Amino acid sequence: MTERTLWHPVAQSPEVVTAPLPVQLLDQALVLWRNAEGLVQAFNDRCPHRGARLSMGRVENGSLECPYHGWQFSSGGQCVKVPAVPDFVPPPSQCVKSFEVQEDYGLVWVRLEASDSQLPVFAAEADTHLRKLNCGPYDVAASAPRIIENFLDMAHFGFVHEGWLGSRDATAMASYKVEATANGVLATGCKAVQPQSNLHSTQAAEVEYTYEVTAPYTALLTKIPEEGSSKQGWRESIGLFICPVTSESSRVWFRLAVADFESSDEQLQTFQHTIFVQDQPVLESQLPKALPLDPRAEMHSSADRMSAAYRRFLKSQAITFGVC
Ligand code: FES
Ligand code: CO
Repeated sequence: MTERTLWHPVAQSPEVVTAPLPVQLLDQALVLWRNAEGLVQAFNDRCPHRGARLSMGRVENGSLECPYHGWQFSSGGQCVKVPAVPDFVPPPSQCVKSFEVQEDYGLVWVRLEASDSQLPVFAAEADTHLRKLNCGPYDVAASAPRIIENFLDMAHFGFVHEGWLGSRDATAMASYKVEATANGVLATGCKAVQPQSNLHSTQAAEVEYTYEVTAPYTALLTKIPEEGSSKQGWRESIGLFICPVTSESSRVWFRLAVADFESSDEQLQTFQHTIFVQDQPVLESQLPKALPLDPRAEMHSSADRMSAAYRRFLKSQAITFGVC
């Protein structure tokens, strides 16, 4: 499964303290914990002794201790202590499966299989002038590809986000440009008239976005400021990072890179929250939960060219999790 060779977000960095935290990625139960050096560890959440959940244990002397017989596993997964046999030195084969971990974008990322894959690119991260913050997590009963496709879709604005990102009186979509990139798909010139496009909107405005898929379960949008507006030169961005928990359920984060320095984190998160909880019930209603990659499986309009390109991209990457 290609998905296993990619990096996926599994938790927010501040959530992972010393104490073990259970998470799930691609149907695999994992336990995260932070060692004395501050490095996050990701183990299979199953003790190799008698199968108890390691996440029910605790961290002792810089090792993760199983809740059942107290076997201790150090960073990297090696068993270093069997309390019932104090003099025993466990051999290298006595270990729990451990996975690669990185922290970036305020999130903990895990890769289940070694490869040369990189973290998805979120270009706005490098813009030091922009303020960055995360929203979420949202636990959603939908596959990761359905959630990405919803994020790329502007034709639902007038219905799902009426009065916010769209209105029923202005549902026609101007044509936009779609192209394949090295790591995904890019749509430019995406225009919409939005009654309340952000926290500070006082009147409807035409906004222009670019949408980009940068990995199978990652997308971002960038706002192109109007000429002459006070935001000219600021390219604000929203990244959508998804943990594919099971093929039909996901954990979702948004990363905001914004030029708003006055609003509180909470105000910015509340706006994003308002929009996403409008999407969530529709997303969770969609059947099949997996995204169909066969073009004949669902009907399309010419406004759906970005979504069609995303489906072709998933197919080209041999993605199998969350698609059908
Ligand atoms: Fe983990 Fe026995 S089941 S120590
Ligand atoms: Co929406």
